[in-house]
Parts: sequence; C-alpha cells; structure tokens
Amino acid sequence: MRRKVIFDTDTASDDTIALMLSLDFFDVVGVTIVAGNVKYEYEVENALFTLEYLGREDVPVYLGAQRPIMGLWRTVEEVHGERGMGRWNIPKPSKKPENEFASDAIIRLSKEYCCELEILAVSPLTNLALAYLKDPTIVNRVKKVWIMGGAFTRGNTTEIAEFNFWVDPEAAEIVLNSGFNITIVPWEVTEEAATLTDEDWDKISKLRTRRAEFFIKVNEVLREYSKRVGSKGSVHPDSLTVTIAHDNSVILESINKKVDVETCNKARGAMLVDWYDLNKNGKKVEIVTKADSVKFKSYLFDALSKT
Ligand code: RIB
Ligand code: CA
Repeated sequence: MRRKVIFDTDTASDDTIALMLSLDFFDVVGVTIVAGNVKYEYEVENALFTLEYLGREDVPVYLGAQRPIMGLWRTVEEVHGERGMGRWNIPKPSKKPENEFASDAIIRLSKEYCCELEILAVSPLTNLALAYLKDPTIVNRVKKVWIMGGAFTRGNTTEIAEFNFWVDPEAAEIVLNSGFNITIVPWEVTEEAATLTDEDWDKISKLRTRRAEFFIKVNEVLREYSKRVGSKGSVHPDSLTVTIAHDNSVILESINKKVDVETCNKARGAMLVDWYDLNKNGKKVEIVTKADSVKFKSYLFDALSKT
C-alpha cells in the first residue's frame, strides 16, 4: 500500500517536478495551493496543468491561503518566470480545483487517513498553520510533516532568511511549535545536494521524453537565475525534500533540535536552531544537515526517463 500524502505547494518550476516525483512515490490524496512564488492564479493553473500533463486529473486540488497570515511578501518571478513555468506559456488547464478550502481538506484528510497521512510542505506554511489553528488535534493524526524551509546562515531571500520561512514566518513558527512530527530540509543542504549542473542538464536533454521536455521548459529561468546568483546550476529544493521523504537513506546526516523562526525586523524569517539545547521546553524537530546528491539525482533522472 502506497503512503498517503498531501502535497502543499506554491507551484512554480521545481515545485512541479517535486509534484511529479510525489505522484511516482506516493498516493497523493490532495494538492493544496498556498501563496508564495508567483501570482496565486498562476500557481493554481500550474498545479492543474502539471496534473493534466502527467495524466493525473484524478488528484484533487484545493485552494488555500492567497496571502501569508501577517505582513506582506513579494512574489519571485525573477526566479521562476512570469507565470512560474519558465518562459512556457502553458495552455489553460481544463481541470478545476475542488470547492473545499485547503486547510479544511487537510483536517478532513487527516481524519480519513488517521495516523498514516504525511504532508509534503514545499512551500510557505500558511495552509498547515491555519489547519492547526482550527483543529490542534490534527498533530495526533498526521504521521509526519516534511518541510522544505529555513536556512542555517545563507538566506536565499534575505541575508539570513529562506523564501518559504520568509513569506510566512508566523506560520512557520506556529507549525514548528505545534507538536507535529517534523523533518526540515534547509536551503544550504538542497544547494549542496540538489544543484543540477550543465552536465546534468545535458543528460536530461538527451532523454528525449515528455517528462524531460517538461523539466527543461519549466526550469530554464530557474537555471539562469540560480547561476546568476552564484550557484553551480539550477537548485531543486522541493524535489530533494520529496525524495528524502520517499527514501530516508538520502539523508546522510541530521540533528534533532528545537527550532524557532524570527518574526521581527531585519532577520524576519530566520531559522533559529537551539544548537546547545538551551530551551528545555517544546518538541525537537529533525534537521537534515547533509543529503546524498548521487542518490537524489538517480531518482530524478529515473523519473524523467519515464515516458
Ligand atoms: O527557498 C526555496 C523554496 O521557496 C522552494 O520551495 C521554492 O519553490 C519556494 O517556495
Ligand atoms: Ca515551493
């Protein structure tokens, strides 16, 4: 029996590849959309289109928060393209989202799949935080939450903040202190293990499959942006997080620490790790500190080689 997951996403470029991998690895019982990367309507279209492209119109899509709980954020078209799919002007999807609000769907599905449901949160944590605020008992029914988020020192959005935590630090703070069983995959770990070089891109382009073509189209702007800011290629944090959830042996090293999120001033969105266990209260979370790049890329190339 395949593991049941909800895929929570601010659907753009790498999110769509993470969704593709999730559909291969798991039984995706819902896709929930949250404000983040690009205009919300584009994120919705990108998710619906990706499911149609992959022949998975059966997977329900639920609309969630169209802004963070507090504060304002900015979208990052420079990273993902105007509509979030590189320069690909995708056709309007015919698939429609469900009527149920995302956080309500998360609560309902946590009851339907009590104690086995896992959440792949490769996005700002607004939907999950709202679900928890509405029904705190959800932490007893959700088996695991896999979070792409946070930065130890090298912020990709501000000097210290990673985008998902920066967009909605209040939501991240709520989720990280809720009691969920959590594993976090921080930015630097993804940059180290999930950067696709020119050689990797050549390998993907030679696959000549529909999935490889999709990958190249949706990630071309991400590749240009990543290299422009100094990475050695396109960085795929969401895809790595989903792969780690699928095969925990991709985790080479991790620690268990209490984690908070700064919500004020210049360090807003910063991940605060209690390295020396100074805070005796609250639940620790697993923080991945090193991941297996070779294993990750093998899973990715395998997925892209499928027709
Ligand atoms: O910091 C990278 C994360 O922010 C990724 O999940 C990307 O899709 C954006 O949501
Ligand atoms: Ca994302």
